[in-house]
Order: sequence, then structure tokens, then C-alpha cells
Amino acid sequence: MGNMLFWKKQSKPQETTESVSIDRENIPQHIAVIMDGNGRWAKKRNLPRIAGHKEGMSTVKRIAIAADELGVKAMTLYAFSTENWKRPTEEVSFLMKLPGDFFGTFMPELQERNMKIQLIGFIDELPESTKQVVLKAVEDTKNNTGMVLTFALNYGSRAEIIEATKALANEVQAGEISVEDINDEAFANKLQTSFLGDLQDPDLMIRTSGEVRLSNFLLWQLAYSEYYFTDIFWPDFSEEDLHKAILTYQGRHRRYGGLA
Ligand code: FPP
Repeated sequence: MGNMLFWKKQSKPQETTESVSIDRENIPQHIAVIMDGNGRWAKKRNLPRIAGHKEGMSTVKRIAIAADELGVKAMTLYAFSTENWKRPTEEVSFLMKLPGDFFGTFMPELQERNMKIQLIGFIDELPESTKQVVLKAVEDTKNNTGMVLTFALNYGSRAEIIEATKALANEVQAGEISVEDINDEAFANKLQTSFLGDLQDPDLMIRTSGEVRLSNFLLWQLAYSEYYFTDIFWPDFSEEDLHKAILTYQGRHRRYGGLA
């Protein structure tokens, strides 16, 4: 098998199977994920919505590890949007406790894997305890050089773009730059994802649960990304589903490269 990953794909029911392999040389470097469908996953099982979020947290661990194993360099997860505050208080408080649970149990493995935690979003507006927990995870992993795992918490792309615009406008007003200096690069440097450098723009965006929209996630950064939508609810999203998404990405890229 060498460095190829194989599994069987049923091309058509009752027909012969074909082997499909992931090209290890063409792994998307940065994958962004809109982790949707936790609530519906729970509802289907007659469980409270928060049970879906808890299971969704386990999926984050599994998928982060799977991505790391494949050599993905950056993964950015939409964990809480600026609009999610509208949810019932009980659900919001549960979601705010999840990072504590997550880092409480997963930190040793994160360290072992040399993963670096980063954050985007309006972190100052999080409850103090959540803020402390996530900032500590960033601090504890700041010297790691492996996959960058970024959590979008209280994140909204339009607000991010407005902040970037204001920052540039202030620099123009202060005479530090001229209007002509504003270009793609200057703008990207003001976005919350700028710490990712060359990896800032995701190669692949995955959204689970059948919704087909961006929901104010990385609007600038996703301009040229490949999008992969699946009906699977986030808690059910498996390592194999990640592989399928990457294969689809590679298929599209192969066509763009004119090899098909
Ligand atoms: C969307 O599903 C999911 C969220 C708003 C929360 C996502 C959070 C996690 C998956 C856990 C994150 C883990 C950490 C460590 C922070 P939904 O509730 O909108 O589902 P629905 O559309 O079916 O109602």
C-alpha cells in the first residue's frame, strides 16, 4: 500500500467494488469545517440537544486526529457563531463549558501530537471561565509546530471583515499607509486568521447535516476553496467521511489540472 490509503467504494449497489485511494501528495493543507447537525442528531435519538453537542465534541477529537494522521496542516472548526447567543440559555451555557471538557481530556494527546491550538472570533466577549480555558490551551501549545487546530468561538465573518476594514482605515487616517496600499495581502493581514500565513485560505470547506450555506464563516478566506456538503450529522461524521471529502477534493483538483 505504501503511503496510499485505501477503502472499498461501492460504485453502484450490487456491482463490483473499486478501490479508491487518497493521494498523499495532494492532501488539502487547510480544512475548514462547519460542524452542523448536533441538535438533529440528538432529536433523532430522543435526547436533549446538548447530548448532540457532547457527541459532537468527541467527533472533533476523532476528526482532528484523522486530519493530523493524513498530514493536514491546519483545521479550522466553527464551534460557536456570533448568532448562537440567541439559543436557549441552558444550551449556550453547555456549549461554553465544552472547551473546558475538550481540553481537560484531550490536552495530553494534543501535546503528544504537537498540535497547536489557535482561536478566532470575539474571544473577549466569552464568559470569563471559557475565555481562561481557551487562552490557556493556546498558551500551553504555543511552541508546538504540528497541525494548527483553530476554534472559531463567537466568530462572525462580516464582523471580522468590518474590523479589518476599520484597522486599514485607521492606518490610512494616521498617514501610515495610503489608500493604494490596500490590496488582497494587506487586507488578509488584518483578518483574525492572519497567524496562519500561507495557510490562511482553506483548500477545502466541509459542512455537515445537509445545509448548503456558509453561515457567515470565513467569507473572505473561502473565496477559492472547494466546498463539500454532506447530509451526515456532525456527531456521525467519521474518519471515512473525512477521507471521502478529501477524495472529492482531489477529484475536482485533478480535473482542474487537466489530468482527467
Ligand atoms: C451546530 O449544530 C453545532 C454547534 C452550534 C456547536 C458546535 C460545537 C461542537 C461540535 C462541539 C465543539 C467542541 C469544542 C471543543 C468547542 P446545531 O446545534 O445547529 O444542530 P442542528 O442544526 O441540528 O440544530
